Amino acid sequence: QTASIKQVLGGEIAVGSEVTVQGWVRTRRDSKAGFSFIHLNDGSTFGNLQLVADKDLPNYDDEIRHLTSGCSLTCRGKVVESKGRGQSVEIQAGTVEVVGWVEDPDTYPVQPKKHSFEFLRTVAHLRPRTNTFGAVTRVRHAAARAIHEFFDEQGYYWINTPIITSSDAEGAGQLFRVSTLDLMNLPRTDEGKIDFREDFFGREAFLTVSGQLNVEAYCLAMSKVYTFGPTFRAENSNTARHLAEFWMVEPEIAFADLNDLARLAEDFLKFVFTRVLDRCSEDMEFFAERINPEAIERLRKLIETDFVRMDYREAVSILADSGENFEYPAEWGLDLQTEHERYLTEKHCKAPVVVMNYPDEIKAFYMRLNDDGKTAAALDVLAPGIGEIIGGSQREERLDVLKRRMAEHGLDAETYSWYVDLRRYGTVPHAGFGLGFERLLNYITGLTNIRDVIPYPRTPGHAPF
Ligand code: 4AD
Ligand code: MG
Repeated sequence: QTASIKQVLGGEIAVGSEVTVQGWVRTRRDSKAGFSFIHLNDGSTFGNLQLVADKDLPNYDDEIRHLTSGCSLTCRGKVVESKGRGQSVEIQAGTVEVVGWVEDPDTYPVQPKKHSFEFLRTVAHLRPRTNTFGAVTRVRHAAARAIHEFFDEQGYYWINTPIITSSDAEGAGQLFRVSTLDLMNLPRTDEGKIDFREDFFGREAFLTVSGQLNVEAYCLAMSKVYTFGPTFRAENSNTARHLAEFWMVEPEIAFADLNDLARLAEDFLKFVFTRVLDRCSEDMEFFAERINPEAIERLRKLIETDFVRMDYREAVSILADSGENFEYPAEWGLDLQTEHERYLTEKHCKAPVVVMNYPDEIKAFYMRLNDDGKTAAALDVLAPGIGEIIGGSQREERLDVLKRRMAEHGLDAETYSWYVDLRRYGTVPHAGFGLGFERLLNYITGLTNIRDVIPYPRTPGHAPF
């Protein structure tokens, strides 16, 4: 019977049973009494399984005593109660078959000690073998699963929106160009230069910055939809909060306004946090112990607290009257900075805050213009300890207003004609938001750098794996 380490440590395999376990050595320690303790991990759970290998095993001197961190092995043995601290069961090894040695143990990059996050990023292919990245990997999976569960239970459809597109959904010009790269036959201008406007089989194409526009079309037929996939931003910002390639969750609901959207965002976050705390308790305890003491507590608090809703106008006046010495001013027409967001959530409201109805001029073309003619029906969800975590809006559903706003933003009418069709044929009020999946994972784990919650981070000029 082959079992995962999670099954063995979780008590699914009765004491006294024979099992086969497989994994990678974390540490080996030899006792003077003539046996070795091997700590084995297979990724299934945070904990390591202790194997006790006796010197009578036929390969004890030649192999077992030479095992080092990173070696892979298969062990057949008996589940026994453990006298040692830290685990209730261990394996009394019957056979230990070494599957793969570590070529040069002294230079193996993942030594059993604490490595800096900076160093581990340089060995992104090996960092899942550390405690931290094992935990991140399990939490990332659990959060993604909870997201799909939340929407499924509420009757949403998961829509797979395109990666290759010709529209700039955010109108921010932060696009990566897609090229067919037929090097022998590149499109040329009359002067013989490469014609970058025509490199996707004779068309101009980019990597998507957001699936929103595409998912809106499905919303206006299927009512409740979401997209969850990779998105790309060619913004040259080398910060701990920006990636060139990140994953985004974007629900879109029909016959709905900004208040419906605020409710959805609150329900959604509470559901996902509840599931992750539930299913990853050991990993979350590790994050609370080693990364951020608040990691668990702040999620619990958020689950229990009602989110505060306020207009941007009110937020700005609270900030202006706060008496705080902010680095950036908070005044009408400027976007809120992280310091402002943290003041509102941590000091003023002591709760997550949904800021609504932003000045129209700092918002995207698709956001619905309010009756005051000055604000757009946009919202940001701000969480204590991190700031903006979700951004969304009610969409402009009126044909004439949308056309006017697209012209004002200088958008090409032909490129977006399909999007305008949605207002021409059975338009309805609808709304949606975007959640950066890695920003969510930073919040959950307490890890402060976005490069440490995605397997292979892509940042400006950096994609070696
Ligand atoms: O605020 P953004 O640009 O909104 C949109 O793309 C909308 N189309 C979403 C929608 O309404 N459907 O991005 C949404 C979220 C941000 O709140 C942030 O969490 C994340 O995406 N995000 C990034 N995450 C990592 N790296 C980057 N460079 C990011 N840019 C945005
Ligand atoms: Mg935003």
